[in-house]
Amino acid sequence: MLILGIETSCDETAAALVEDGRILHSSVLHSQIPIHIPFGGVVPEIASRSHVERIEGIVKRALSQGKKTLDDVDALAVTQGPGLIGPLLVGLNYAKGLSYALKKPLVAIHHLDGHVASNYLAFPELEPPFLALILSGGHSHFYEVEDYGVYRALGGTRDDALGEAFDKVARILGLPYPGGPQVELLARKGEKSFKLPKTMLEKDSLDFSFSGIKSAVKNLSDKLEMSDRQRADLACSFQEMVFEIVRDKLALAMEKTGRRKLVIAGGVASNMRLREVLSELDAQLFIPPLSICTDNGAMIAAAGYYKYLRGDFAPLELNAQANLPL
Ligand code: KG4
Ligand code: ZN
Repeated sequence: MLILGIETSCDETAAALVEDGRILHSSVLHSQIPIHIPFGGVVPEIASRSHVERIEGIVKRALSQGKKTLDDVDALAVTQGPGLIGPLLVGLNYAKGLSYALKKPLVAIHHLDGHVASNYLAFPELEPPFLALILSGGHSHFYEVEDYGVYRALGGTRDDALGEAFDKVARILGLPYPGGPQVELLARKGEKSFKLPKTMLEKDSLDFSFSGIKSAVKNLSDKLEMSDRQRADLACSFQEMVFEIVRDKLALAMEKTGRRKLVIAGGVASNMRLREVLSELDAQLFIPPLSICTDNGAMIAAAGYYKYLRGDFAPLELNAQANLPL
């Protein structure tokens, strides 16, 4: 079964062809980063308009790279939410139009279900149940994934998502958007010489709180006339502390659930230092390759396959939802 996946929840216009939820035929992506750089972050209206201009071309390229036509596609999958409402509506309405014209079923996908499903593309042997930690720009949450698309929330951030904290720290350190990868690069040049708070919350809580650490970084940078060396040390100290917290919370989640199979997903999973730190855990660890950690159409097509198998199709009245619950 060949699924065309479409993702437009934020600043990437993406489409991909995936067979049976596991085999990637093509994946095409247009990143809007250059048009948002002058604003230091994603401007929703500019993002929406760019999706409108790009989506047709991106879908056509996904088809031609996969050497397929729309006739070969069995179903469509599209991100329904969460995300920026304007960008989501562009992808959703485009997919609805195609579904109606082609008389082919449409499945609506939760963006985080997509992030988790990126691991199905990378690891053919991976099947639920497992423990998942999603670390993206909008979410930092633990789930017990009992079956395909069946999520039981165990905890999550009470304030900033980890990607958001990386982006804010980048801004504090004077680094350009998108901040996460820039902080990682700068941290490589520094040492963990600043003492930052290790916020673990209640003893057995699987919640996170990253805003205190971020504020501590801000206070230090306001107080100090910082040299390049100190900025690198601050980036390193921040990154080391948040990953230490993530590692220790994962150990707690494994202890509480008795599960050793761990899936990490979302943009922050592309951080190489995170991979090193998590390899210290006594776990069967799955982290997708860098190319599918951040938003893409393939992960939506992969999740779409399993939703299709459940017979859960989207009606044409379906609306996008900026805060769609998982
Ligand atoms: O999953 P994603 O592409 O989009 C959302 O669904 O939010 O995640 C984007 C987030 C951004 O906050 C970005 O700064 C962060 O992931 N990110 C990173 C790295 N690459 C992306 N954070 C830390 N280190 C990285 N290498
Ligand atoms: Zn994402």
